[in-house]
Amino acid sequence: MTIFTLTETQQQALLQAARDAQKKAYAPYSKYQVGAAVLDEQGRIHAGCNVENAAYPEGLCAEASALAAMVLAGSTRALAVLVVGPGGKNNSAWTTPCGGCRQKLREFGTPDMPILCANDTTLGPRYTLSALLPDGFGPDHLGNP
Ligand code: THU
Repeated sequence: MTIFTLTETQQQALLQAARDAQKKAYAPYSKYQVGAAVLDEQGRIHAGCNVENAAYPEGLCAEASALAAMVLAGSTRALAVLVVGPGGKNNSAWTTPCGGCRQKLREFGTPDMPILCANDTTLGPRYTLSALLPDGFGPDHLGNP
């Protein structure tokens, strides 16, 4: 297995794409706007934002939206993810992927995939997928590579 290293250029591109996406978030209920950007194995970046709904559980997270864009563009391999939200300000917790999104990321990323958190001014903590979802259930459990 080759360990993927995110370059400074890739990190900046992810940050920019996620921040642009955050501005487009549709979050009239929570007012918690989130943007996400995924780097695929072809070096392309796919962005997404949260899209809420008056029927609250029907809302979509930014990460899910970015993964959908990646799949639509023809890729099913994510190398890195960056999430931008309101967290990390005034002592608030950084915006990290919710449990459901950790599972969605597991479908397309390897355990060592970097997941970076940021807000509109600062780059925050960095995790690996396996740190956020230890021993996760994935395609390999079903015999898929
Ligand atoms: N949200 C995301 O889009 N991604 C995350 O990583 C955390 C939460 C959204 C869901 C909902 O629209 C709003 O943030 C508040 O929970």
